[in-house]
Order: sequence, then C-alpha cells, then structure tokens
Amino acid sequence: MMYLLDTADTKEIKRLMDLYPIEGVTTNPSIISKARRPVGEIIKEIRHIIGNDKMLHVQTLGERAEEMVDEAVKLKEMVEGNFYIKIPVTPQGIKAISMVKKLGIKVTATAVFTQQQGLIAAKAGADFLAPYVNRLDNMSCHGVEVVSDLVHLIETYNLDAKVLAASFKNVDQVHGISMAGAHAVTVTPKLFEHLVYHPLTKQAVRDFEEDGQRYYDLGA
Ligand code: E4P
Repeated sequence: MMYLLDTADTKEIKRLMDLYPIEGVTTNPSIISKARRPVGEIIKEIRHIIGNDKMLHVQTLGERAEEMVDEAVKLKEMVEGNFYIKIPVTPQGIKAISMVKKLGIKVTATAVFTQQQGLIAAKAGADFLAPYVNRLDNMSCHGVEVVSDLVHLIETYNLDAKVLAASFKNVDQVHGISMAGAHAVTVTPKLFEHLVYHPLTKQAVRDFEEDGQRYYDLGA
C-alpha cells in the first residue's frame, strides 16, 4: 500500500518525506485555502520539495466539464512530473474524467461515497478512486466496507483503477482499509505520525539506551 500526505503544509511535507516512505502529496481546495496562498505558488513549492517522481494530486474547482478540463491542463502545466488531476464524481466530473484522459492527463476521481460512483469513474478512465472513509463513517455508512467493495470490483472486472482511500481521523480506519486491500492511502501529517507512534516502542528504546550505554563505545 502506498502512503501519501494529505496536506499543503510544506514544512511538514519536507520533514516527513525525509523520514518515511511516502509516495506523494494530495491536496484539495479546502487544504489549499488553509495555506492562504495561491494554488499555483503552493503546488510549485510542493513539487520542488518532493521532486518529479513523487505523485502530486491537485483538485479542480469548476462545475462544468469544460472548466475542469481547462483547469486540469493549466494545473498540470504549472507542475511538471508525476501529476494527477483530482476530479469530483459529479455527472460533469465523470464527463471531464473521460475528456482529460484523452489528453493524456492522469486522474484521481474524488469525493467518492458509493461503490457505483467509483465503478463508473473507473470505467470513465480514472487511475485512482478516492473514497472518503471518515465522512462515510460519520454517517454510519461504513467507509472500510466501501473501500473493500471498490477493491473487489476492480479485481472482478479487471479494471486499471486503484483505490486511494482518503478522509481519515484515526489509525483504526487506516488499518481497516489496509486489510481491505486498498492500493494507497492519504492522511494528514498528524495522523501519519500516529501510525508509527507507540508508547511501548518509546519505552523499549529508552530501556535499551540505559542498559547499553556503558558497553557501546564504538570509538571515534
Ligand atoms: C483527499 O484527497 C480528500 O480530499 C480528503 O482526504 C478529505 O478529508 P477530510 O474528510 O478530512 O476533509
């Protein structure tokens, strides 16, 4: 499973990319708005930090398919490298997915809440499907089950799409989608650190340090 960071916080991207096997960054208009800077400026800075090989997912804002396609072309031009345009799975969005794929731009279908939305987006050519796990859980609609069904549908119909599970609030949700076979996950920097943290690991390392320090002088 690939891990991505769902943030536009460039300091955090830099810090965590240095530590962990992270394959890219996802953003959406709400995330961009928190940074209080123009989208072009932010995504260029993120690209500079992560390099051309890592994935960068940037979302459209327009409502009509033609507007989304225009935004996709412009946003892709702003950042070179491994780029995905995120398009919501509205009727106009599904149309836009087919259109941008014909232009050779890779697509992440986003704001996926049902299995059928995901399946139709995959048929339209989406490379990734992004179901919103926590927002589904908040409505008692079982986000992990939706992810699991999407993985099953992709396998059943031999589709090229992958599941990039999104919208998480806790480690258990992330673990659930990993057990369901999600291909990728995007989480906030804070949640990513919770995936790694355990108080007993910290305590074990402290104990090793105390026990071993007299005997670990390896010379200059
Ligand atoms: C990802 O790309 C989504 O836009 C994002 O994960 C949504 O997360 P939220 O439900 O925490 O806003």
